[in-house]
Amino acid sequence: MIGRLNHVGVATPSIDEAVKLYRDVLGVSDITEKWAMPEQGVWVCFVNLPNSQIELIEPYGADSPIHGFLAKNPKGGQHHVCYEVDDIIVARDAMRAKGATVLGTGEPRIGAHGVPVIFLHPKDMGGVLVELMKKPDAAH
Ligand code: CO
Repeated sequence: MIGRLNHVGVATPSIDEAVKLYRDVLGVSDITEKWAMPEQGVWVCFVNLPNSQIELIEPYGADSPIHGFLAKNPKGGQHHVCYEVDDIIVARDAMRAKGATVLGTGEPRIGAHGVPVIFLHPKDMGGVLVELMKKPDAAH
């Protein structure tokens, strides 16, 4: 059973440009600096909203998994949604048992929040790339 919606992932060709939209047009004042996650092939930045976050992701390196998405969506776009779960392994096994496709090896990786995450293929998720992350201890 999924819990809280943690964030919505938005891919962009330029976090610096995207930040201008969220800061100057949408009026968000709480936006983190961007940082690189080389193993994931992304630059990341969080736009902090009162009830959730927008995770901006920009390709890092030639092998970034975001390049394919941006080839189809050159201006960027909604990339994934992330739900919190109590136990990432229990959630992964339950999703598999129900026919979902876990991307990669299925071994959780450490995501941008510093907690384990997995991704579920959109073909079984109504067309939405779904990230599941272990509920951060500090969130509740
Ligand atoms: Co995410």
